[in-house]
Amino acid sequence: YLLDRIRNFSIIAHVDHGKSTLADRLLELTGTIKRGHGQPQYLDKLQVERERGITVKAQTATMFYSHQIHGLGNNDVSEPPKFLLNLIDTPGHVDFSYEVSRSLAACQGVLLVVDAAQGVQAQTVANFYLAFESNLTIIPVINKIDQPTADPDRVKAQLKSMFDLDPSDALLTSAKTGQGLEQVLPAVIERIPPPPGDSSSPLRMLLLDSYYDEYRGVICHVAVVDGVLRKGDKFSSVATGQTYEVGDIGIMHPELTPTGILLTGQVGYIISGMRSTKEARVGDTLHHNRSIVQPLPGFKPAKHMVFSGLYPADGSDFEVLNHAIERLTCNDASVSVSKETSSALGMGFRCGFLGLLHMDVFHQRLEQEYGVHVISTVPTVPYIFEYSDGSKVEVQNPAALPSQSKQRVTACWEPTVIATIIMPSEHVGPVITLCSERRGQQLEYSFIDSQRAFMKYRLPLREIVVDFYNELKSITSGYASFDYEDSEYQQADLVKLDILLNGQPVDAMATIVHNLKAQRVGRELVEKLKNFIDRQMFEITIQAAIGAKVIARETISAMRKNVLAKCYGGDITRKRKLLEKQKEGKKRMKRVGSVDIPQEAFNELLKVS
Ligand code: GTP
Repeated sequence: YLLDRIRNFSIIAHVDHGKSTLADRLLELTGTIKRGHGQPQYLDKLQVERERGITVKAQTATMFYSHQIHGLGNNDVSEPPKFLLNLIDTPGHVDFSYEVSRSLAACQGVLLVVDAAQGVQAQTVANFYLAFESNLTIIPVINKIDQPTADPDRVKAQLKSMFDLDPSDALLTSAKTGQGLEQVLPAVIERIPPPPGDSSSPLRMLLLDSYYDEYRGVICHVAVVDGVLRKGDKFSSVATGQTYEVGDIGIMHPELTPTGILLTGQVGYIISGMRSTKEARVGDTLHHNRSIVQPLPGFKPAKHMVFSGLYPADGSDFEVLNHAIERLTCNDASVSVSKETSSALGMGFRCGFLGLLHMDVFHQRLEQEYGVHVISTVPTVPYIFEYSDGSKVEVQNPAALPSQSKQRVTACWEPTVIATIIMPSEHVGPVITLCSERRGQQLEYSFIDSQRAFMKYRLPLREIVVDFYNELKSITSGYASFDYEDSEYQQADLVKLDILLNGQPVDAMATIVHNLKAQRVGRELVEKLKNFIDRQMFEITIQAAIGAKVIARETISAMRKNVLAKCYGGDITRKRKLLEKQKEGKKRMKRVGSVDIPQEAFNELLKVS
């Protein structure tokens, strides 16, 4: 393929605006997948992606499409030239904006999909700027025009006023009915430039993504920027200096399709005997082993915004959990993992995630794909503490912070984000109240059109990790949209809040909170815990404390619990069933000291503060 017959593009959109459906239609239209192949949203491969209807991991597919570019003076050609189009799917959730920018690095243009009824939303803005800053050609696609509430003209006006996009450039489509779809690929070919690059230069490839396949080992997605790579070639990594031999090479069409070669401008896969995805650093430059090349601009490394401890619900399952986490991180290098020990929960792991959804998805995959039951502790953000001897430490686990340190804490910092919120004008008041309750600082406030307001806030990351999005949705009847990017650290007055059960601090329940909120949070936490911990055969006291000072206390009185009492004179199978059931129920319990704590109690802790 000649370079000018190749186009690399992505579809970017606010969540649910129809990106995956549009991708499917394009794959069908080009015969890459069969129409009605029975699996909607081909590119959404993971089970969690299907269940939750969100795209988590970006996938790529190559399509072939014949198109005659008009006005080039060769209209008499009976057979229009065939183009090779690489569609790079991007995730649609704010947690994964890192993967969006990664996908964009291999593209020269994007389809910016906007729902014709909902109009421009927070992630439309965020994604637009990602593409704009990378100098990509932006093709606006106003989708879902079949909806009764669709108002494409209003969306065109928004695109003009927000992004200075020419309304006449917008394509109107319905990925559902198929209306307007025939204009999409011609627009991709005519408006998006072919990839730059030089086929006679030494090979340079960008490593876009990698995953581990049970049978084939590590599979790398790459974009060939310059030069050519063939099966059997030896190549090296700039990041690790390691050399590999290409065992298999080809395109995703949409399954792995061997071609023996990848040319300049192509996007495809290589399999080369890498043992772990840790060797395949996303953003790395790969080159022929004997040539020296200028590394390609890499990506910002993924930044971990949320940390949580993961422990086996049953202590003896540690090895099972260890194995599951190892396998899963093979496919999701954006999770950081280190071993940790909790006096309450035993041996486990401290994991860092891109955001709350990312954490949830990881948790769900551990259970679904590996069948391990996990207790996860209250998520925390990475704080920085400075001590009187001048040392500074990043605290990823509140338990690691001594309650009464020999060293005095002299200052603390917390991470902040810049949040973009778009909402119908009538909801502005409650949103401002919410943001100030969450210690936000307003940076910008304007209107997209007569009905929609746009705000930018600096907010402490901690305040949005804790249920911010749900709250925002509920006060705006679901009409607000939200996106954020990480920003700098700011100084804050933070304290460690300990939870004590029967006088013993439970390290896995410690949190770091803002001093002004500590009293209220402490009170709410013990009240919640009281509701979630079952009465047991002895009295349980629950306390919240800052250092040696107890700020809240509740007591659960003793009770004798005997499941068998119910089947007096009973039938033995029923008895067995009941015992089984109780065992089931226990799975998600964790015995701390002598108190059984259900996973729900940990989940509830998150919702306070
Ligand atoms: P993420 O993968 O989570 O980013 O979402 P997405 O942007 O890919 O949206 P998706 O394709 O999953 O579509 C969201 C919903 O909108 C689905 O229920 C689709 O069936 C529906 N949808 C997509 N396109 C159209 C359209 O043109 N018209 C109508 N009426 N519904 C559509």
